[in-house]
Amino acid sequence: MKTKILQKLKETEGYISGQELCDVLGISRTAVWKYMNKLKEEGYQIEAIPNKGYHLLHVPDVLTESEIKSRLCTKWAGKEIHCYERVDSTNQAAKHAAEQGSLHGALFLAEQQSSGKGRRGRSWVSPKGTGIWMTILLRPQLEPSYASMLTLVAALSMSKAIEKETGLKAQIKWPNDVVINGKKVCGILTEMSAEMEWIHYVIIGLGTNANIEEFPEEIQKKATSLKLESGKEVERVPVICAFLSYFEKDYENFMIYQNLLGLLEEYNERLVNCEQEVRILDSKGEYTGVAKGVDASGALIVRKEKGETVKITSGEVSVRGIYGYV
Ligand code: BTN
Repeated sequence: MKTKILQKLKETEGYISGQELCDVLGISRTAVWKYMNKLKEEGYQIEAIPNKGYHLLHVPDVLTESEIKSRLCTKWAGKEIHCYERVDSTNQAAKHAAEQGSLHGALFLAEQQSSGKGRRGRSWVSPKGTGIWMTILLRPQLEPSYASMLTLVAALSMSKAIEKETGLKAQIKWPNDVVINGKKVCGILTEMSAEMEWIHYVIIGLGTNANIEEFPEEIQKKATSLKLESGKEVERVPVICAFLSYFEKDYENFMIYQNLLGLLEEYNERLVNCEQEVRILDSKGEYTGVAKGVDASGALIVRKEKGETVKITSGEVSVRGIYGYV
């Protein structure tokens, strides 16, 4: 109901009377008044004038189910939303919920994570109120070995969402970092519960540095935030909603072919080091080559110096630019 009231306030240019809200939503005047108070507690500024009604003056940048749902136009992505003030990790929260039967497309968001997880066992610093720490739960009918491609799908959707909402050019560092001006702005950690031939669920955790103003010295050269790049505070909810809309479409496209064929062009256009020299670090050593783009399976095609072409699957391989991170 709070979501519906919020939607009504947002779509009304001037004032909406308490009576109209009661009639349209089928609730009492007291109920309207209570919901208005709840919204005010969450930081919404709502003007209430006798004989005129209610008028929304200011929408806070809060990660709440009602705020997200009041802006969301998706079929299944984000239809179930869980928002936490503080949680160990949204991936952990999603796993627990998945075991309890949460739906395909359920979204888990936190203002702060106390044990945010990064790839390869690293931790992910997730300070309060300045990031988009979120996880989406999927239940795909897919062979388990295909699930890693979903990470690339999410990177593509997030890069488009960032670009749409901030105007910044968001690129992808294969396989799944979103970068702006050569620095990482979003990292993705995908985890899965599966049997040999059957996926129980996949969870995709995305950490986007939204309004972080400073990074520890050791990562200053390779990490950035939307605020640092755009020079202004960025509203997080529009980025989340744009991601969910793009991801819903991109995921459906992916599921048609069960590979990246339908997304390849867009992905490769965004690939930060396409046609550039890269350094590959794998378990056997290090070599250089020119990145030629990804194929439909998500592998990075690299042409080595002597002309030999190799396909790199993510696993334990690191790709670096010749002079640094990209
Ligand atoms: C990386 O190492 O690049 C991946 C970082 C992924 C961080 C996100 S934040 C939301 C979700 N919850 C976690 O604990 N990790 C992911």
